[in-house]
Amino acid sequence: MKLLENKTAIITGAARGIGEAIALKFAEHGANIAFTYVSDSSEEKARALELKLSAAGVKARSWKTNAADYAQSEIFVSEVIREFGTVDICVNNAGISKDNLLLRLTPEQWSEVMEVNLKSVYNITRQVIRPMLKAKSGSIINMSSIIGIKGNAGQSSYAASKAGIIGFTKSIAQELGSRSIRCNAIAPGFIETDMTQYLQEGEISKSFLDKIPLGRFGTSEEVSNTTLFLASELSSYITGQVISVCGGLNT
Ligand code: NAI
Repeated sequence: MKLLENKTAIITGAARGIGEAIALKFAEHGANIAFTYVSDSSEEKARALELKLSAAGVKARSWKTNAADYAQSEIFVSEVIREFGTVDICVNNAGISKDNLLLRLTPEQWSEVMEVNLKSVYNITRQVIRPMLKAKSGSIINMSSIIGIKGNAGQSSYAASKAGIIGFTKSIAQELGSRSIRCNAIAPGFIETDMTQYLQEGEISKSFLDKIPLGRFGTSEEVSNTTLFLASELSSYITGQVISVCGGLNT
């Protein structure tokens, strides 16, 4: 059974990793996909993903746009609406980490993480709610992190940005629930992607694995399954929630 037939989904930062897995999962379930990437080096991957998504029989297009930039986000969403007609689902997935102990954390590093991880969620969400309000339905899914719930030494900027996403999510859920627009967050634990490459080797990997009840890192596909659930009508009575996909780490 296809869960997202004829829906249009926006996914930010989808040329690789968790975002790419979500795009593929949504396409498998019949959604048309508008996704973003930010760097020139991702262009080839974005084109390849467009082809893969189209091969699944859905409409797919990528935009090179910086989700941290308000003006670019406004243009991006208006172009998606012009081309796809509407936006039913929005996955705010783009994110970066600039890990450093507080004494070494520069104002520039702090601001960059806040702009990409948190301001981007405001930038895109503020635009997508217009078509959702018109349609009186929609599902917004924000990619937080277990670190936004637990905190972590050396990750204060990342943790603050991801905790901010949770506050934003709960507020938007309350603001827009009466219009049947749902807003939820996902808090992944350690997922095997480029972002966590440095954690996946040697002693450091073992120290993390010891803390995970399921005894392994998660996969992007496992995060995409939860995202599919939150995007679809299977979660029609769920809003304002944070779902951890963390192998039990947050227990
Ligand atoms: P990744 O580094 O593979 O992917 C992040 C994507 O965001 C990349 O495609 C990148 O180009 C894009 N991006 C970065 N800045 C952007 C901007 N300004 N505008 C548009 N796109 C931008 O990382 P991964 O692991 O796939 O992470 C996806 C999301 O999941 C992130 O928000 C991350 O914080 C979150 N997350 C990841 C975890 C993990 O263990 N991998 C754990 C918890 C949360």
